[in-house]
Amino acid sequence: MPKNIKKRIFFGIIIVMDCEVIFMLIVQICVGSSCYLKGSQEIVEKFEKAVKDHKLEDKVVLSGSFCTGSCNREGVTIHIDDKVFTKIKPENFDSFFEENVLSVVR
Ligand code: FES
Repeated sequence: MPKNIKKRIFFGIIIVMDCEVIFMLIVQICVGSSCYLKGSQEIVEKFEKAVKDHKLEDKVVLSGSFCTGSCNREGVTIHIDDKVFTKIKPENFDSFFEENVLSVVR
C-alpha cells in the first residue's frame, strides 16, 4: 500500500476517495413488521440525531433492513457490521449507542 494512503480502521465497508481508505461502521436498523411495531422509526430518528450530534457522518452509515429473523417481543433489531443487537428501545438507546457506536468509532 502506498505511504500516502491514509487508513482509518473500523469495521465495515471501505471507501476509497482521493487515495484515502476509510472504514465505516455499517448500522442496519430493521424496519420489518415486528420491529416497526416495536418502534423502529423512533430508533431511526434517534440514530440520525445521535450521529449528527456527535458529528459521525463520515464514520457511520445508517441503513434499513428487512426482517433478519431476530424478531423479539421487546424491541428493535439492529445489525452493526456482523453483530446482532436485539431489544433496542428508546429507553435503552443512549447506552446502546455509547457502548456499540461511540466506543467503536472514537
Ligand atoms: S422484523 Fe425485525 S428482526 Fe424480524
